[in-house]
Amino acid sequence: MAISIDRDDTQLIDVPRGLTNVVVAETRIGDVRGAEGFFHYRGESGVDLATDARFEDAWSLVALGTLPQGEAAAAAFRARTAAARAIPESARDALSALAGSGLDPMAQLRSGLALVSAADGRRPFYDETQGERTADGIRLAAVTPTLIAALHRWAHAQGPIAPDPDLGPVADYLRMLTGVVPDQRLAAALGSYLTAAIDHGFNASTFTARVIASTGADLASCVGGALGALAGPLHGGAPARTLDMLDEIGTPERAEDWVRERIQSGGRIMGFGHAVYRTEDPRSRLLRGVAQQLRADGLASDRVDLAVAVEQTVLRVLDELKPGRALRTNVELYAAVVMEACGIPRELFTPTFAMARIIGWGAHACEQVEDGKILRPSSRYVGPLS
Ligand SMILES: CC(C)(COP(=O)(O)OP(=O)(O)OC[C@H]1O[C@@H](n2cnc3c(N)ncnc32)[C@H](O)[C@@H]1OP(=O)(O)O)[C@@H](O)C(=O)NCCC(=O)NCCS
Repeated sequence: MAISIDRDDTQLIDVPRGLTNVVVAETRIGDVRGAEGFFHYRGESGVDLATDARFEDAWSLVALGTLPQGEAAAAAFRARTAAARAIPESARDALSALAGSGLDPMAQLRSGLALVSAADGRRPFYDETQGERTADGIRLAAVTPTLIAALHRWAHAQGPIAPDPDLGPVADYLRMLTGVVPDQRLAAALGSYLTAAIDHGFNASTFTARVIASTGADLASCVGGALGALAGPLHGGAPARTLDMLDEIGTPERAEDWVRERIQSGGRIMGFGHAVYRTEDPRSRLLRGVAQQLRADGLASDRVDLAVAVEQTVLRVLDELKPGRALRTNVELYAAVVMEACGIPRELFTPTFAMARIIGWGAHACEQVEDGKILRPSSRYVGPLS
């Protein structure tokens, strides 16, 4: 039977592949300026905030709209987030079973946040006030480090470690993971990375969160979808692969052949290239410095030197083999080097990235649902008609 098409195809608007340069929303949360190599949160330079490792201040800025005004406000925000770190008792059995399921850590985090959210009694955004939605965002972001660490420890037959509200969220994450209060310099290094990772324009995971929020779904569903997008190797799944690359290359002299072979066989070099930056990713410059400082302080291995040497070779070969593309180092190479120096296992690199980005997802989801319009684009059917 022939299918009749009643849609008015003259109304369709074609957009570039990958939605490149297509504006789909207005936002007050932040922006990435690709040509300048600059990003900001609500007008505050992301690099400046990250240089001072002001993770909780940046969290407040993105989630609540302002930097804390004065020490009392900063302490109040810290206390608010610290009080939201614990895993609900009623979810513990299901979470420990999840940890033993063999699912990869990102899938566990997705399911774990759904379990925590159900135990909390979270409701669809559609039914909540904007204040309740913001509180949901703070709760899910606060519990995520506890959850990542607990799932990891359960999976390795170790009991989870309860959060310590007297420690900042970054140091406490490392403590809950390793059982040891970290060297303050390591916590600051990780804090710089996480501060720089809170938000970054309309990347794939943020857009995913906003699409789900536009339906009025609950925040755990928005975050679950965003985690799925983040897990992809072209997005947040890249950092572990950059270390796999450094392992395979082994020594700086072998980098040239390895990189040429990889590009000539059609592969991509993880940790390089960006959808928006056409200059050096400012987060890469920041984290290279952080990694080199850790090396100088004796807190990072010669992995840092290898990364610096390989980076130079990759940039030279990319310029030669992909001329005119302006492919530069992105955030992932030195993020991986810093996370490794902090003692974070490779399989937790992407969950750790998510522990920061979930703050941005929460803010974006709140902003999108307030718009009140469901996101529902079109496609052009090009298959056969019977
Ligand atoms: C981030 C990324 C997905 C952006 O993709 P994009 O927007 O399509 O990239 P561009 O439009 O700038 O570049 C496309 C071209 O450059 C090539 N390219 C982009 N990044 C590359 C890389 N890391 N290694 C080799 N080639 C790369 C593509 O193959 C393509 O070449 P072609 O036109 O000859 O096929 C891409 O750079 C990539 O895959 N990087 C590696 C994964 C990574 O580190 N992701 C983390 C991002 S923060």
